[in-house]
Amino acid sequence: MLKSPHLLGIKDLDAESIDLIVKTAKEFKEVLNRPIKKVPSLRDVTIANVFFENSTRTRLSFELAEKRLSADTINFSASGSSVKKGETLLDTVNNILAMKVDMIVMRHASPGAPHYLSKHIKANIINAGDGTHEHPTQALLDTFSLREKLGDLAGKKIAIVGDILHSRVALSNIYALKKQGAQVRLCGPSTLIPKHIQSLGVEVSHDVKDTLQWCDAANVLRIQLERQQIKYFPSLREYAQFFGITRKILDELPKEIVLMHPGPINRGVELSSDAADSPHSIILDQVENGVAVRMAVLYLLASRA
Ligand code: NCD
Repeated sequence: MLKSPHLLGIKDLDAESIDLIVKTAKEFKEVLNRPIKKVPSLRDVTIANVFFENSTRTRLSFELAEKRLSADTINFSASGSSVKKGETLLDTVNNILAMKVDMIVMRHASPGAPHYLSKHIKANIINAGDGTHEHPTQALLDTFSLREKLGDLAGKKIAIVGDILHSRVALSNIYALKKQGAQVRLCGPSTLIPKHIQSLGVEVSHDVKDTLQWCDAANVLRIQLERQQIKYFPSLREYAQFFGITRKILDELPKEIVLMHPGPINRGVELSSDAADSPHSIILDQVENGVAVRMAVLYLLASRA
C-alpha cells in the first residue's frame, strides 16, 4: 500500500513504493494489451483533471488511464475558466470538490501548488507537474521504461542531458534514480545546471560525447525557452552544435545505449530527427507505458481509502 494519500513528488516516495507502482503498472500494461482494455477497478471514483498549464501527453495519458479504470472524469483547463476572473486556486478546487470529486490530478505553473492544496482539501492529489519543481508520474514512467530495457537500475549509469535548471522531469528523475541505486550524471551547459545539484549525489559534465560513452541510457530534455527570462546560451543553433544528439554520434558509440525524451521534442535542437526516430530511441514506449503507470498510481491511491 502507498503510505501517502497523495502523489506530490518523488522526494517523499520510498524505493518500496516505487517498486509497488512499477509492479502494479506491469499488470495494467498486460490489461492494455488485451482486446478489452478496461477494468472496473475505479467504477465509483470521480476524478478531475485540473490543468493550469499546457499539456499533450500527460493530460491525455491521465484521461485514458482513468477511462481504462472505469472512473468518471471531468476536465478543467485554466484558459476559458473563471480563473481569468480572479478566482483563487483553493476556491476553484473547492468548487470542483463540492460536485463530489474524489481525486484531483493537477498541473500548475507554481512550484508547490499541489503541496499547498494537499494541506487544505480532503481529496487525493496527484501532481502532474508543478512549475520547474517535480513531475512524479513522468519519472515513474521513465523508471518503468528503463527497467523494461535494463532490468534492475542499481549500479546502472543514467545520464540526463539538457536544460536541467528549468526541468521538473530532471528533478523527479534524479530522486527516482538515486532511490533505486542508479548512478546519475547530468550534462548540459553550465548555465543550465543548478549550482548545488551535486548535493543530490549526481555527477555533472559539460561533454555530451563523453557522457554518452559513459551511460547505459540518456534521458534528453527540451530547452524550456518559455521558462527562460534571460539568455542562457548564445543561440539554439549553437546549443544544437555542442549538446544536440545525432544518429551519427549514437552510431559511433562503442555500445548500444537507450535514448529517452519526455516530449515534446524540439527536433533539430536537443535531438536530430534521425536520432529521435532511431532504433536506440524508446520515446514512444515511454508514452505507451505512461498510461499503465498512471493507472497504477490512480489505482493504488484509490485503494488506500
Ligand atoms: C514535460 C513537462 O511538461 O514537464 N513533458 C511531459 O510532461 N511529457 C517536459 C517538457 O515540457 O519539456
